[in-house]
Amino acid sequence: MSLNAATPGGPSLPQRRNLVTEIPGPRSRGLFERRQHSVARGLSHVLPVFVSAAGGGVVVDVDGNSLIDFGSGIAVTSVGNSADLVVTRVTEQVAQFTHTCFMVAPYEGYVEVCEQLNRLTPGDFDKRSALFNSGAEAVENAVKVARHATGRDAVVVFDHAYHGRTNLTMAMTAKNMPYKEGFGPFAGEVYRMPMAYPYRWPGGPAACQAEALDVVTNLIHAQVGEENVAAVVIEPIQGEGGFVVPPAGFLPGLATYCRANGIVFIADEIQSGFCRTGNWFACDAENVVPDLVTTAKGIAGGLPLAGVTGRADLMDAVHPGGLGGTYGGNPVACAAALGAIETMEKEDLVGAAKAIENIMLPRLRKIAEANPVIGDVRGRGAMLAIELVKPGTTDPDAAAASKVAKACHGNGLLVLTCGTYGNVLRFLPPLVIGQPLLDEGLGILEDAFSKL
Ligand SMILES: Cc1ncc(COP(=O)(O)O)c(C=O)c1O
Repeated sequence: MSLNAATPGGPSLPQRRNLVTEIPGPRSRGLFERRQHSVARGLSHVLPVFVSAAGGGVVVDVDGNSLIDFGSGIAVTSVGNSADLVVTRVTEQVAQFTHTCFMVAPYEGYVEVCEQLNRLTPGDFDKRSALFNSGAEAVENAVKVARHATGRDAVVVFDHAYHGRTNLTMAMTAKNMPYKEGFGPFAGEVYRMPMAYPYRWPGGPAACQAEALDVVTNLIHAQVGEENVAAVVIEPIQGEGGFVVPPAGFLPGLATYCRANGIVFIADEIQSGFCRTGNWFACDAENVVPDLVTTAKGIAGGLPLAGVTGRADLMDAVHPGGLGGTYGGNPVACAAALGAIETMEKEDLVGAAKAIENIMLPRLRKIAEANPVIGDVRGRGAMLAIELVKPGTTDPDAAAASKVAKACHGNGLLVLTCGTYGNVLRFLPPLVIGQPLLDEGLGILEDAFSKL
């Protein structure tokens, strides 16, 4: 059967890789030409195949090619594209009403999503949530809440951090090119600390575990002053910065330090949340309980929604009217989130992420053994990565990462790169992907390395 533009998406899509043209094919190339004349150059593409349908673990393009999806639209479609419960709930909602603005006239779906966030995020205490449109907006609002509640200004962030593309979140993001170059001046009172990055810590992983927390807290003391810090914001597993997993003890230690110093501990779980790492949230792995958690991406099966959830005393410190936005918590996006959360629970996607780790991690380690260009294999659940270096060194090799990614794309496997040095290949399959596609995708990756 040939897949064409009329193929409906969702889980019923044939779960197989099928290449019928070169990648990208002629229709995609035609659309890309149109795109060049109509869309700003500042938006780039990992792989310029134009999509006509997607579901389960595949993405189908306008030429009829079916690609294996190891990206989930950057950790968004964890429940799969057009998942049944998302489609049902969205369809019902869109026929009822599409918008009133929660700040004008509220609706139940928003309240229900906040109840679910309060229930699912770490910590048993009284919580409140507020909804927004994007991850960056959630981070901005978490900082607003922390500043308002503490009466302090400073925000502490980390090397390799990524928090978004708005002015404040650009300031909080570490990497200059492409995110910040030429876009300053940036928001002030943002202070960057070294990240507990085991592979790149001077002296290696053991030294990282032994030293990182002291280094960070000493620097905060010396350069900022604890009494001036409103919030420490950290991704429990860093996303765009290279899937950096801090050593055991670092996050709990940081949370304890924040609590002792009246600093709001904000976990940015925008990429790592919603079952992705084999827990509901990456913080759960070490029983870390943040004061505030930011969420987005996986929350709503592909519709734009984000949240800030946390201690009621902090969230409710803000005066009525101090938080909000026209579209934040749009009813259709809320319906999608409720469908996505129901799917995660019904289909045990926490367990599915762990199963993906059990299949992928040993294979990635095997590939690493055979390829000295791989310096590190890391991650948790279905948030896994390999870091490429010049063999025998830790010098980043972005060209090799790009070459492997391109080879995978040409063979019908959609993979993403990331990392401050652009030398990390990351794997974020939809949590509903089947083992045959995972195995086939890993085979394509293996093959790409053998031809490097
Ligand atoms: C950890 C983290 N925070 C914030 C953001 C920004 O989210 P958005 O692109 O929805 O604004 C991202 C996006 O990649 C992210 O990974």
